[in-house]
Amino acid sequence: MILITGGAGFIGANFVLDWLRGSDEPVVNVDKLTYAGNLKTLAPLDGDARHTFVRADICDRSAMDSLLAKYAPRAIVHFAAESHVDRSIHGPADFVQTNVVGTFTLLEAARAYWNKLEGSAREGFRFHHVSTDEVYGSLGVDDAPFTETTPYAPNSPYSASKAGSDHLVRAYFHTYGMPVLTTNCSNNYGPYHFPEKLIPLMIANALAGKPLPVYGDGLNVRDWLYVGDHCAAIRRVLEAGKVGEVYNVGGWNEKNNLEVVHTLCDLLDTLKPREQGGSYREQITFVKDRPGHDRRYAIDARKLERELNWKPAETFETGLRKTVEWYLANQEWVADVTSGAYREWVDVNYGGRR
Ligand code: NAD
Ligand code: DAU
Repeated sequence: MILITGGAGFIGANFVLDWLRGSDEPVVNVDKLTYAGNLKTLAPLDGDARHTFVRADICDRSAMDSLLAKYAPRAIVHFAAESHVDRSIHGPADFVQTNVVGTFTLLEAARAYWNKLEGSAREGFRFHHVSTDEVYGSLGVDDAPFTETTPYAPNSPYSASKAGSDHLVRAYFHTYGMPVLTTNCSNNYGPYHFPEKLIPLMIANALAGKPLPVYGDGLNVRDWLYVGDHCAAIRRVLEAGKVGEVYNVGGWNEKNNLEVVHTLCDLLDTLKPREQGGSYREQITFVKDRPGHDRRYAIDARKLERELNWKPAETFETGLRKTVEWYLANQEWVADVTSGAYREWVDVNYGGRR
């Protein structure tokens, strides 16, 4: 079996659901259930013996030791993290705790576990660390996309904490010979994305008749990848990646934020026209910028394509349409996750931007 951390969050849950659609290999899913973790996302697996959910904190060494001893996984896929840049600006401590201390704790537990394995179990064990393109910093308009050898230059407490975790993972390979793999991926979107992030926030606000808050001039660029394509890339790297290597994952879909919001409004105008008429674009408002806002991310994913034959299956157009359709069909899920704590966050983040 494999052990997943953070499998009640956006990408981790998509990964678990996709994994069990394509394989009968069981999954132990370890998640602390912060505001970002949601068991409703895993409801399709209720009663499925291939999925075991365990509520635990990756910073808890004895819990991690017990889980590894009990389930004896052949691999760990590590998604658990604090993941939202704006939250890291308002409260960086949780990011250092989970992303740095938590990854360190998990690595230590994994090292002790791996050291006791023998033969093919030891040979075949993998620790797959899921990371981000944000560790490489910000690009100018004409700069070449990030490659696996681009120097690290993180600019937010979030990306700095992820950079710290990447360095620890790298060190465990070089120092202890631990069989690690790292993937650095661009911006994901798709089903079960928590509505604090750009795409689901814009869909939710549009449908609720609320303003669509675009930071700064709206011209910051991100590379967008459909979450199912990210999950496929992780499966491929886990299966055939070379230990100690880093693979960049991206969608070859560079868009500025305004283009993304316009496309979302146009899709909603077609799929769910406003009752009062007119376009959702009328709800766009420009608000105060994010401090230290990275201008552009772009990913060169050719290594993964060349060495492991992975390419994204979705274009931005097909992926975004699927996503909007999913949100329209799953308003109940959105209502469930946008609870009291979510509304408090909206006041903290957007109150001062008006
Ligand atoms: P998310 O915030 O939606 O989910 C994170 C999950 O981790 C939640 O279920 C949460 O409960 C859990 N968690 C948090 N702290 C924990 C702890 N101490 N112990 C156990 N569980 C804990 O995040 P996501 O968007 O799904 O991102 C998953 C991973 O992918 C992260 O490592 C992130 O850095 C990375 N990543 C995300 C993106 C993206 O666009 N979302 C892109 C590239 C990489
Ligand atoms: O690049 C990968 C990263 O992508 C992941 O590592 C992070 O976990 C993930 O959250 C994401 O980070 P971003 O900061 O790029 O995503 P976010 O959705 O927060 O913002 C995307 C862009 O949209 C960014 O330029 C800020 C802007 N934005 C965001 C929000 C929430 C707005 O203009 N308005 C908003 O209300």
